[in-house]
Amino acid sequence: MLKLSKMAFYALLVLEGPKMARVIEFGPGCDSPAARRKPTGAERRGLAYDAEVKAATDHLYPKVKDFVTPMEWPAIAPFVFHINRLKKQRDAVVLAHNYMTPDVFALVGDFRGDSLQLAREAAVTDAKVIVQAGVHFMAETSKILSPDKTVLIPDMRAGCSLAASITGADVRLIRKKYPGLPIVTYVNTTADVKAECDITCTSSNATQVVEHVAAKWGVDRVIMVPDEFLARNVAANTDIKIIAWKGHCEVHEKFTGEDVRQIREAHPGTIVLAHPECPPDVLEEADFAGSTSALSNHVKESGARKVVLLTECSMSDNVAADNPGVEFVKPCNLCPHMKRISLENIYDALLEMKHEVTVPEGIRIRAKAAINAMLDLPKPKVFPKFKVGAGVYAPVEII
Ligand code: 13P
Ligand code: SF4
Repeated sequence: MLKLSKMAFYALLVLEGPKMARVIEFGPGCDSPAARRKPTGAERRGLAYDAEVKAATDHLYPKVKDFVTPMEWPAIAPFVFHINRLKKQRDAVVLAHNYMTPDVFALVGDFRGDSLQLAREAAVTDAKVIVQAGVHFMAETSKILSPDKTVLIPDMRAGCSLAASITGADVRLIRKKYPGLPIVTYVNTTADVKAECDITCTSSNATQVVEHVAAKWGVDRVIMVPDEFLARNVAANTDIKIIAWKGHCEVHEKFTGEDVRQIREAHPGTIVLAHPECPPDVLEEADFAGSTSALSNHVKESGARKVVLLTECSMSDNVAADNPGVEFVKPCNLCPHMKRISLENIYDALLEMKHEVTVPEGIRIRAKAAINAMLDLPKPKVFPKFKVGAGVYAPVEII
């Protein structure tokens, strides 16, 4: 006789519903598990897992098979089907950051990548609507670059601790304190902050931007806001002196050099890759450091068999899906802001055309100048990497 696990049995009840319920008897006053089950997000929205949805989505399941169980798929596939249909109706694209969960990243993301790649895509896309599967500053960047397009973010609360650490008024005070010095802002800032700065940078081009702006202004000191650790890690890669703000990414600041030593002890032979928003003591112990896309590329190109990515949790899931032969050690930290974005709210955003991100025109024009100053730089031929190991500490002045 066919034996079913409890989970599979419940799944059958979910899928078969009344048919199964008829052959199972429950005592008086007892609800069947099917009756007790809460409706899924798809069911609450009237999105069925019917034959049409199944036929259109079956081929997509292998992309997320390590993340979504077969039992969960009927709750996910209707969103994928209807999001992809709504994208066509609205002439919309989904720009998905590397930190999105694999269902969003692999199943509905039209363009995937790091902050710089998504900004470049926002500037050139022909679509009328951009859905930012990322955080608010990314949606603002898209709007700044594509003012005629409707830019939607599925959850307005998707913020960023770095963006929250500094205001435009702070930058005006910094400008007064350090006259004649260029101010580079990480893209992880509000439009208001970008409008006060001379050029933006991302983790993909931070050292290049600092050296460019120092040469252009004829100075040997550059102000970098708001990420202290990115600034420190840049300082170790250039002769330009860095003046830094004390903002931190709440995800990456939690990693320590001691974490890396413990990982190496527990998992010998693991290649350690770190994002440059981590403190320098992490990079001192790491084997490789770079932007999210540089980390992903390194896993693919380096031939490493066992890796750990010291960055946001979903990165490992997404990179693992593309590198089936690589073993991933997965200590990671979740970004609560990135995790606000889901298939459910992407569907709602496209259906109801919410939540629109706007930027006042006066701010937009000035912020665009700072972003364009970065986008106009030559595109690096390889993903830039940061120094790791000895020599990652360089003196930095804190504002
Ligand atoms: P990148 O994708 O540019 O590496 O940025 C990481 C990040 O933390 C974005 O919020
Ligand atoms: Fe901001 Fe850090 Fe989250 Fe990126 S991971 S959005 S830098 S808090």
